[in-house]
Order: sequence, then structure tokens, then C-alpha cells
Amino acid sequence: GLLQDLTGPLALEFSKLGTASQVGVVIASFIFLSVFLNVSRQLLFKNPNEPPVVFHWFPLIGSTVTYGMDPPRFFKENKKKHGDVFTFILLGKKTTVYLGTQGNDFILNGKLRDVCAEEIYTVLTTPVFGKDVVYDCPNSKLMEQKKFMKIALTTEAFRTYVPIISDEVSSYFKRTAAFKGPSGIVDLPPKLAEITIFTASHALQGKEVREKFDESLAALYHDLDMGFSPINFSLHWAPLPWNNRRDHAQRTVAKLYMDIIKSRRASGETGAQDMMYHLMNSTYKGDIPVPDHEIAHMMIALLMAGQHSSSSTSSWIMLRLASQPKIMEELYDEQVRALGAELPPLTYEDLAKLPLNQAVIKETLRLHAPIHSIMRAVKQPMSIPGTKLVIPTNHVLLAAPGFSASDPQYFPNPELWDPHRWAADAVNAPNIARNAAAEEETIDYGYGLVSKGTGSPYLPFGAGRHRCIGEQFANVQLQTIVAMIVREFKFRNVDGSDKIIGTDYASLFSRPLEPAKIYWERREKA
Ligand code: HEM
Repeated sequence: GLLQDLTGPLALEFSKLGTASQVGVVIASFIFLSVFLNVSRQLLFKNPNEPPVVFHWFPLIGSTVTYGMDPPRFFKENKKKHGDVFTFILLGKKTTVYLGTQGNDFILNGKLRDVCAEEIYTVLTTPVFGKDVVYDCPNSKLMEQKKFMKIALTTEAFRTYVPIISDEVSSYFKRTAAFKGPSGIVDLPPKLAEITIFTASHALQGKEVREKFDESLAALYHDLDMGFSPINFSLHWAPLPWNNRRDHAQRTVAKLYMDIIKSRRASGETGAQDMMYHLMNSTYKGDIPVPDHEIAHMMIALLMAGQHSSSSTSSWIMLRLASQPKIMEELYDEQVRALGAELPPLTYEDLAKLPLNQAVIKETLRLHAPIHSIMRAVKQPMSIPGTKLVIPTNHVLLAAPGFSASDPQYFPNPELWDPHRWAADAVNAPNIARNAAAEEETIDYGYGLVSKGTGSPYLPFGAGRHRCIGEQFANVQLQTIVAMIVREFKFRNVDGSDKIIGTDYASLFSRPLEPAKIYWERREKA
């Protein structure tokens, strides 16, 4: 009766419209309905045992856009509203963020039966690295692989790396057109990406591999890199052009490494210091040698893991120096004071004599850690100590160690890039509660003793079983690159200001927005 009276005229109106607009109306009603249901559910059904959910209009999309544009801002705004623990929708997935030092510890030191990294990362990494390594094998095998890699990075190896890296840097500036003449303007990040790959490949994989980067390898690694686009979290399987190029590049690069391994084995070589040689002579538990294809895939994984993080960090260092040229002068003076005015060839031992040079890296990683979000799948319901919250198994956990690294309770004037804060008794010295016991606490997950990091607000290299094994290498590489560039150049911003460019969060590793141009001037030689 009444309903018909009301809807009757409406139905008549609809029937007058064409089919196309009928489809339009159906779609619009569907969207309206799903938004309506989604919003009502958030307002009406709040589960007191689950973290608060970040408000969002659309199901599936959720907060993907606001998070993706600027994760640190997203974390900051939602901490204000919800505290340290909250859930947001990332591409349809309930993602629970746990900020602060307790959150870092809860997620990064989570037990193997509670949290899982490979479930998240394997779709991206396995097609790029290849089978049977890193996230395409049981965690116990990854721990053994990390042990092999870590053992290879000895002081003895680092001694050989410093001259290799400094020669690469010098020869790069001699032959690169953008640095011809006494001064100029250059877009820095692409140049530092090249310097990073040349220095890492030469030190870790030897001269033969390094030389191939002047020819085919640079393009192949670029194709591998495209496999790491965030869109591949959903489309990793699709026969799209970039995925076909990724697969071709993986096969080609792996074969190249395997051919080198074969010929090195045949030559009966002994006593080399590079990573490949070390892996060729490592054995899994039960005396099982590492198969050639696994060595090849680990070589790809190592170079890729180091490339983005080190190249982004070196770009930020140089952009920060351009915005504060005074610090660049202090770095130069430090070298003259510690090593002598003639600035002899750099050695591994010299690096320890340059504390400001080290602090520049430490401070840059505090503000510009390249990995802003670390994710884990939840394998068992996990209760958060001291609360009634339980994280269910259909959630993903997200740790953001960069968040505590810019928290004013630990770092006075957190937004200020101040390398001097790491010196004893500095004005902005970190205010880290000296819980000696917690800070010294170490643990062995199967790849050597590492600090648990429990309670530390500064974890740019992560913590727990997935902690970085490349930290010392990255430090040697970055300290050498910075020291060599400081010897050669003075930088400043093109407009002479102290501005710093924004961050590009669009790829998996954050980095400076491009172009990031600076003005350079060749230093007068004494
Ligand atoms: C893991 C940061 C350089 C190899 C990690 C993790 C972080 C990190 C935060 C933990 C990821 C997680 O828990 O999911 C950095 C930074 C670097 C750097 C900031 C440079 C500034 C390197 C280099 C290498 C390397 C140069 C290789 C020589 C690795 C490996 C892992 C790792 C093998 C272990 C992954 C796992 O166990 O799941 N790194 N890294 N990293 N990194 Fe690095």
C-alpha cells in the first residue's frame, strides 16, 4: 500500500531513463550503500578487545591514500587521536600499528610462532631474488644464510673495501660529465645511486662483476628493481611487461653469477675476501654445501638490500650538507686535523678517527631511515601487555622505528638535523633512559649475537631475527663515500637557503623527491 504509493512514481521515473544511466544509478547506489554500511559499522560496532580503527569512508581503500602519501604524518595524527596502538585499512588489509619503543619491541622481537615476515614479503622478493633464499625458505634457513653473510663481513674484508670504494668514488668524479669544470648544478640522487651500486658491487662481488655494471648489468638490475613497485604486492603474478622484464632479468643475472661461480671453482682459487667466495665455502648444518643457485640468488638479494637503503641515505647526507655547508667545512677540517693536510689515501683505520663523519650518518638515519614501515603477519592472537587488546590473526602488524627516532622525549629539537648531538655533552644530546641491563641485552637468533634493541628509540637497522646484517658494511661504505666527496667538493643549495627537499614515499624505500638539485664547487687543493 503505502510503500507502493511512494515507490511507484519513483520506479516510473527510473524507467524513463536510458539503460546507461540505469547502470550509473546502480553503481552510485552500490557505492553509497557500501560507504553507508562501512561508516555505520565503524560507528556502531567497536570491539573493546581490538585496537581503535582509523576512520575511513570507503571499504578496501580505507586509509591507503593518506597513509601512502606521508606515513610519518599519518602515524603522528593518529597517535594524537588513538594513542600508540591503532588499526587502519591498507588495501583491504587490517593493519595494526604499534608505535613507540614498546611497539618496536613487541613486533620486531616477536616470537616465531606469533609473527611472520616472509608471508608479507615473499610475493615481492622471490621473483626478484630467485628461489630458496631469504623469504622463499623456512626462517631457520634464512638465519643460516644471514650467518654466512655476516661472517664474511670481517674487519679484514673491510680493510680491503675502503681503498676499493674510495677509488671508485674518485674515478666516478673524474669521468662523469655532470662534474666537469670548477662548479655546476646537479641533480644528486641519480649520481649517488650510481656511486652506491659501483662501490657495493666492486667490494662485495669483485672486479669482474663490477665491470659488467658498465655494460649489461645496470639495465638488468633496473628491471629487477621494477619488481619492487608497491603495486606488485597485488600484481606480482600478472604477465605484465614489467614483470616479464623482471623474470628475464632474474634468470639472466642468476646465470651470470652461476657461470662465475663455476669458473672460480674450476680455477681452484683460495683466500679471496669477497662475499661470493665466502658463500662458495660455507656449509649448512649437516655439512651441506650451499648450492650454486642459492649463492647466485643471495648475491642478488644482498645487492638489492643494500642499494636502496644506502643510496637513499647518501643522497640525504649530501642534501643535508648542501643545506648546512658549515658542517661540510667542519668535516673537511676534521680530516685535515686527524689525517694530515696532505689527506693521504683513506684506510679502514682512518674512519674511526673521524667522529663527526660518523655522526653525520647516524643523524641522517635518525631523520631519514629509508624503511619507514616494517610489517609482519600475525600467526596467533597476540595480546598487548598491560591492555585488554588482542590482535587477531587476520591483522598485519606494522612497526615504525623512525617514529620513536623523532620523538622529542628522546631527541631534543627532533626536527633539527644536528650531527653534533651525538657528541658527549652536546646541547641536543639524546635523552635515552640509560637502562644498562636492557640496552646491553643480546640474543642469538642463529646469525651471531645482536643487541635486542629493547627500549631503544633509535633502530634504523631494525631489531630481532630480521635485523640488518649490512649495518657495518653500510657504515664503511657511507663513511668512505662522504669522506671522499668532502675532500673533493663544497656543496650548497642552489638558492643558498637552508631548505631541505621533501620525502618521496611512493616506492617501498623512502627517498628524497626528485629532482634534488644542488650547487657544487670543486675545492681548491692546498
Ligand atoms: C634487514 C635497514 C643496508 C642487508 C634490514 C632491516 C632494516 C634494514 C630496518 C630489517 C627489516 C625487517 O625487519 O623487516 C638498512 C639500512 C641500511 C641497510 C638503513 C643502510 C643505510 C644494508 C646492506 C645490506 C643489507 C648494505 C647488505 C650488504 C640486509 C639483510 C637483512 C636486512 C640481509 C635481513 C632481512 C631479514 O632477515 O628479513 N636492513 N639496511 N642491508 N638488511 Fe639492511
